[in-house]
This record gives sequence, structure tokens and C-alpha cells, in this order.
Amino acid sequence: MDKKQAIRQLAEKYDSFYFYDQRIILDRIEHLKKSFPDVEFLYSVKCNPHGGVLDTVFGQGFGADAASLNEVKMAAERGVKKDMIYYSAPAKAIRDIEAALDKSVIIADSLGELERIRKLAQGNRFELPIKVGLRINPAFSYDTNEGHANKFGVDEAAALEYMQKMKDDSFISITGIHTHIKSQELNASKLSSYYGKMFALAGRCEEALGRNLEYINLGSGIGIPFDEKDREVDVDWLGEEAAKLMAAFRKTHESTRIFIESGRYAPGPAGIYVTKVMDKKLSYGKTFVLLKNTLNGFMRPSAAKMMNKYFAEEPAFSWEPMFTGLHSFQFKALEEGGELEKVSLAGNLCTGTDLIAEDIEMPRLEVGDIVYITNAGAYAASFSPMQFSSQERPAQVLWCGGDSFVIE
Ligand SMILES: Cc1ncc(COP(=O)(O)O)c(C=O)c1O
Repeated sequence: MDKKQAIRQLAEKYDSFYFYDQRIILDRIEHLKKSFPDVEFLYSVKCNPHGGVLDTVFGQGFGADAASLNEVKMAAERGVKKDMIYYSAPAKAIRDIEAALDKSVIIADSLGELERIRKLAQGNRFELPIKVGLRINPAFSYDTNEGHANKFGVDEAAALEYMQKMKDDSFISITGIHTHIKSQELNASKLSSYYGKMFALAGRCEEALGRNLEYINLGSGIGIPFDEKDREVDVDWLGEEAAKLMAAFRKTHESTRIFIESGRYAPGPAGIYVTKVMDKKLSYGKTFVLLKNTLNGFMRPSAAKMMNKYFAEEPAFSWEPMFTGLHSFQFKALEEGGELEKVSLAGNLCTGTDLIAEDIEMPRLEVGDIVYITNAGAYAASFSPMQFSSQERPAQVLWCGGDSFVIE
């Protein structure tokens, strides 16, 4: 069975579903690993926590970037070892930290959180000192050498001061740093310059601590094409540039681990959202094709449409993962060809905002026909308000080739 046949077969059972192509996920993972041989990868579970996707990604040696206790548990239950699960999120509950400590490495997100972990350490339940990472809000951005106010992490100056003051603390020990300041960067030279700034930051931290770090987590940043005009990041070139930086770093850091955590890169382009025409109507000269579960099933195309209403030509800026660009999703009929028709695509919710495209050309569609939306593999199912109006939720299907599926 080929991909189209697989989609047709599933559409007989489901009116809307996510379809993740495992082959694409595996190929993209392979590309990352080959391009960065000195890097260990973590998968940002939040972008797509489908069980089959997790098994696929972890099966390739990725660890987990977990944003909640539940994500820590999901990775641990799938056999990911503690030193490959990094729990990093703002405003963690101390009881979640306590429950996650034996399964993951905690990345503290504030000075207050560091103190709460320190207090926990004084309770005599843990081997001391508790090793923690610290998320730093650095004194630079991708484009400048200035820091910016941010709800994530600890401002660099305050982090360095704390590290110096607490370097010999007997309850907690900062052994790693984590930074993530941008997603969806398509410019490889900006990513490379960011990595350079990160190694310099690691040096400042080590000076404050008086010892080498055990790990540096460079966060994410590598984007994927959304708009048809977007080009893939030149990951081969980026890997070569990173290798030069790492070679210099390795001279004094034989054992420091280097992580990149990536969400969207592997599963993002591997996913499509499949939906069906449920109704069609003509209203004052405009043809509406009504699809199953659009805003509620896959929110971001509706969000992009909404931005399009406000910023018809130039959007203010992208704000990931809610909004990437005005033309980030393509709408396609599964059966191509035939006569074209100008239509607006809307969904079955009782709100006018459930609208994903206006006056676009599509092959003539009738009730029962299959339509799909691209770029639905990351921040798609997990980032949609599926509870709204209590509709039947879209299925999520990992297609492993032929007639092999993992359906959730
Ligand atoms: C801390 C952190 N790391 C990694 C990621 C994954 O980013 P991406 O999906 O762009 O790879 C995110 C996304 O929000 C994040 O917040």
C-alpha cells in the first residue's frame, strides 16, 4: 500500500486525522545525527507526544526534552535513561520536581526554583549535592549582543553571580547550562553564530563555577520550511561549522556533553492533517467548503488566517508556535487534477473564526472528498483546542509503511 492508498483507507474510518509518515521522521533524524556527530540530541516531546512518534525518535537514540512531569514519565516509561531526560520548564511545582528527580535531570528556571530545590535537598532524601542544570537568559540574542527581558531562565549576570556564590554548596551543584532563545530559524549562519556565543557563555559560567560544565544544552533553533518559498536549513553546512567550534572546545573539554534539543525538525514536515468535506454551500456568490474539525482539530491554520485578516501583507512578526507566517500551511485535495474552483475553506464549529482559507483555487470538491493540510507534524495535534464543542477528536496515525499503523 502506498501513502495515498493508506490515507484513503484511513479516511474510510475517520473524518479527520493526523497522518505521520515514519520514513520521513527517520530520514530527518538520520540527517541530524550524521551532520552533528559530536552532539547528543533531545526530542522536545511537547511538539508531538504521539506514542509511536516517541518510540520512533527515542529508538534512534534521542533523549527527551521534557516540559512537564508527565513528559518526564512518558520518556522514562519508554526506557529513556535518566541522563537523557532533561526536565526544563518555567514555574515547575516543587512536588513535580521531587517526583521527577529520580527519573530526569532538572533544569532550574529561576533563582527561586534553585532555592526550592536546595531546600528539598536539605530534607535528606537525596544523594547530595543534587546536580541541577540552569536555564540562562543570555546577554545576547541571535542578532545582537544584548539580553532581553524574558520569562524563561535566569538573566546571565544574575546566573553568573549565583554560580560563583554557590560553587561549593553542599546541597546543590550546577553542572550544566541550558539556553533556548529562538525557534524556527532558517538561516544556518545565524544558528552557527548562536552556537559560537553559547560556547563563550559556557566559558563564562565555568569561570564562575571554577570547573568545567558536565553539559551544555544549546536548545533548539533549527527551523523547517513552512511557506512554499522557505528553504530547508543547510544542516550539512551547519554541522561542519559546529564541528569547528566543538573541535576548539574539545581541546579543554574532553567529557562535556553537548546537546541540541529539537522538536519540529524531524516530525514537522512528516505530518499532514487529513480532513473531509462535510458540506458545501454557496452564500452571496461565495462558495464555502465545510471541513471536519479545522480550528479545533488543527488550530494553527485558523490562527494564521486570523493574522492574515489583521496584517494582510506584512505580519508584525512570527510568534512560535502559535503563528509562523501568513502562508505557512498549504491546503491540498488528495485527488488532484480536474477543474479548479474558487472556494473558502471553513470548519464545522459554531464560530466564524473556524476559517482556514478564503478564495483559494482548489480542484472542485464534493462532500466526502479528502483535503489535507501540510506541516502538521509538530505543534499541531498537541497545540489544538480539541475539547471545544465536544467534537469527536481527530485520530493520530503513525504510518510505518505498507499496512502498518500506530493509531492513537
Ligand atoms: C526550551 C525549548 N527547547 C526546545 C524547543 C523545541 O523547539 P523546536 O520545535 O523549534 O525545535 C522549544 C520549543 O518551544 C523550547 O521551548
